[in-house]
Amino acid sequence: MTDQPTPAYTGPERVVSGVQPSGALHLGNYLGALKKFVAYQDQYPCFLFVADLHAVTVWQDPKLLADQTREIAAAYLAAGLDPKKAVIFPQSAVRAHSELAWIFNCVARLGWLDRMTQFKEKSGKHKERSSVGLYTYPVLQAADILAYRATKVPVGEDQRQHLELTRDIAQKFNNDFETPGFFPLTEGLIAGPGARVMSLRDGAAKMSKSDPSDNSRINLTDTPDDIAQKVRKAKTDPEPLPETEEGLAGRPEADNLVGVYGALAGKTKAEVIAEFGGKGFGTFKPALADLAVSVLAPVGESLRRYLADPGEIDRVLKDGAERASAVADPIVEETRRIVGFWRPN
Ligand code: TRP
Repeated sequence: MTDQPTPAYTGPERVVSGVQPSGALHLGNYLGALKKFVAYQDQYPCFLFVADLHAVTVWQDPKLLADQTREIAAAYLAAGLDPKKAVIFPQSAVRAHSELAWIFNCVARLGWLDRMTQFKEKSGKHKERSSVGLYTYPVLQAADILAYRATKVPVGEDQRQHLELTRDIAQKFNNDFETPGFFPLTEGLIAGPGARVMSLRDGAAKMSKSDPSDNSRINLTDTPDDIAQKVRKAKTDPEPLPETEEGLAGRPEADNLVGVYGALAGKTKAEVIAEFGGKGFGTFKPALADLAVSVLAPVGESLRRYLADPGEIDRVLKDGAERASAVADPIVEETRRIVGFWRPN
């Protein structure tokens, strides 16, 4: 890939991230994404969208897509994002994303995309039956980010490769068109492996909306009873919690539950171990259930209130789309000028 130095981008810091509207959100999304976004909204201008363009890289029922988009927006709001601070919008409502994605499709190289491991995982054995959109998904992601010249992108570990691709596209564009520093080399605010929430049924698998077992995850719409029961039923081993953090090695389920406790309480794993080391799960699980309920029940309640008022969500999304376009449109217009597309004299 290209590695010539590019003079630094000197524009304002901006944060961009997105969540796909494909199914209900769970504890992993809350701790790994939403809660982080809430922390950033006071530090940077944040552009947080619902990634409906990315969702349609695999089949989505047209009757459900708009409601699923509203659900993610409702979850943003329920988690504590303030639409007066963060710009919240549907990706497809800001045409700049699609337009810049096309230009970037002509900048990115096939060899770069051939290396993307997420495409290999998602396309499985039948690559030739995947949509072309699924293949070029990371290029759209680069457009999402660079349409705002975002400097920081909070995402999970699994998106690291897509951020590297975003930087490669920015750098090749800047080099090819001799516009040094036009696009920033975006930095990932990567939630480390510790922030990754694993399945409650299998400490080796990521908590996922596509897991067939509902007991594997805590959904943001779960009732306090559901939450408590799922924690009680969570898979563990028979040993008490270790006296030191190192003792969690080789105990993925225990490690995950300690990590979840820490993330919910704002504590490190070492702090959780200092409190619960030597205690059995019969003591730890009820404490975790209480904590999870105290943090998530208000989020779930707020989520249900927003879902009952789709008109309010639509106002947020429409206003957000206008504010997002006001930033992205001039950047894409300037990109069009750099590429040399026709404009009236
Ligand atoms: N691919 C991201 C994910 O699955 C979602 C996403 C799409 C995104 N576009 C983005 C995240 C731009 C950050 C920035 O998590």
